[in-house]
Amino acid sequence: MSAPEGTPIRAIDVIRKKRDGGELTRAEIEALVGGYTAGAIPDYQASAWLMATLLKGMTRAETAALTDTMLHSGEVLDFSDLHSRKVDKHSTGGVGDKTSLVLAPLAAAGGLTVPMISGRGLGHTGGTLDKLEAIPGFNVNLPVAEFRRILETCGCAMIGQTAEIAPADRKLYALRDVTGTVESPFLICASIMSKKLAEGIDALVLDVKTGSGAFMKNEKDAAYLAELMVETGERMGKKMAALITDMDQPLGCFVGNALEVVEVLDVLRGEGPEDLRDLCLELAAWMFLLGGSVSSVEEGKKLSEKLIRSGEALEKFRKMVALQGGDARVVDDPKLLPQAKQKMDVVSAKAGYVTAIQCERAGTACVILGGGRERKEDSVDPAVGFVLHKKVGDSVSSGESLCTLHYNSEALGARAKAMLLESFEIGSAPPKHKRPLVHRVITKSGEKS
Ligand code: URA
Repeated sequence: MSAPEGTPIRAIDVIRKKRDGGELTRAEIEALVGGYTAGAIPDYQASAWLMATLLKGMTRAETAALTDTMLHSGEVLDFSDLHSRKVDKHSTGGVGDKTSLVLAPLAAAGGLTVPMISGRGLGHTGGTLDKLEAIPGFNVNLPVAEFRRILETCGCAMIGQTAEIAPADRKLYALRDVTGTVESPFLICASIMSKKLAEGIDALVLDVKTGSGAFMKNEKDAAYLAELMVETGERMGKKMAALITDMDQPLGCFVGNALEVVEVLDVLRGEGPEDLRDLCLELAAWMFLLGGSVSSVEEGKKLSEKLIRSGEALEKFRKMVALQGGDARVVDDPKLLPQAKQKMDVVSAKAGYVTAIQCERAGTACVILGGGRERKEDSVDPAVGFVLHKKVGDSVSSGESLCTLHYNSEALGARAKAMLLESFEIGSAPPKHKRPLVHRVITKSGEKS
């Protein structure tokens, strides 16, 4: 049921059509989303439409139309005058996931332009902006002209969403948050892709997390979302690849904003834990492949290794930090990063093997310490977090340290310690199957490897 041509589209008719399982036209989606963003459609009607969408789903054409409408609700950056390929990476979020801070300078060192617009921590997961702000002076709130200037000079810049970028998402996301409508893969796809496509990129690598620390706990849901985002991006002329990667335990060993910057510097120096290093190499390789710098993932990994070995990636990071107002001395002296006043070990009560680390609980422990937000308006404590000494499969003896907490409040330290202890599962044998770091790769719509 569509309104006769020339008749204004009424929100009530769009809601009813979706409620009854119909496919909305682009004009109907534009009327609903545009009307809501402009304040002409009230929260209650937008909420009803969101819930109908969550329950009835969307076709691929509707998802593309919604993404496009949200994208064009604000400014779409245009870096077409910059000659190199513009490539970004987006993660659906996890615990200890600090790959963006490695990938932006690494890809830029290899000749790509990385205009990265990132978010803050969400729920139990950490956020790139909070990690960057742990570097004294680092400014993530740059005007677009300054963002462009840094991209031209350095090849990478990392900022937060500006008021001009995808305002429809900003409004709809806040409404979804309080109406039980976050979980729709169609709405998640349009929300993420509208912001990423506003960066003016040619290609995007998606890191879709699965496991106990991810929003998509099972691989099937993660793969569905990944396929949807790949297809939506391709429809809009972008080169796309999605890697379904493991988030069943924290990535790397350091969790907490300043602590994660320390581990980023380790990786950029060619050190750091194997899982984090390997994932960074894999994601960077895909960025180089989609950006046309290499002709295979293997070649991309070799290029990434070379850029780390030569120190070029670390130098890019230093340059970006300085250009964004940060204290670049942290690169050589990480002790200049905020330090917690207290440290305490969390020890195992029994001997055995770590069979699991309940990752959402571990992430929540960091939030409790003050490393994330319990309420939207909270500020984060950059110094707190924990360093894991044991990961899944490791043997542990009774009384041995599982991890070290970095904390600033006795009461919060005690709560986080209890939560972390609960998150470790110790058994008599290591797990039979090691979960892969990359579960699968989804490249062209529907094509998996
Ligand atoms: N992140 C976003 O930006 N949007 C969503 O809907 C979910 C995660």
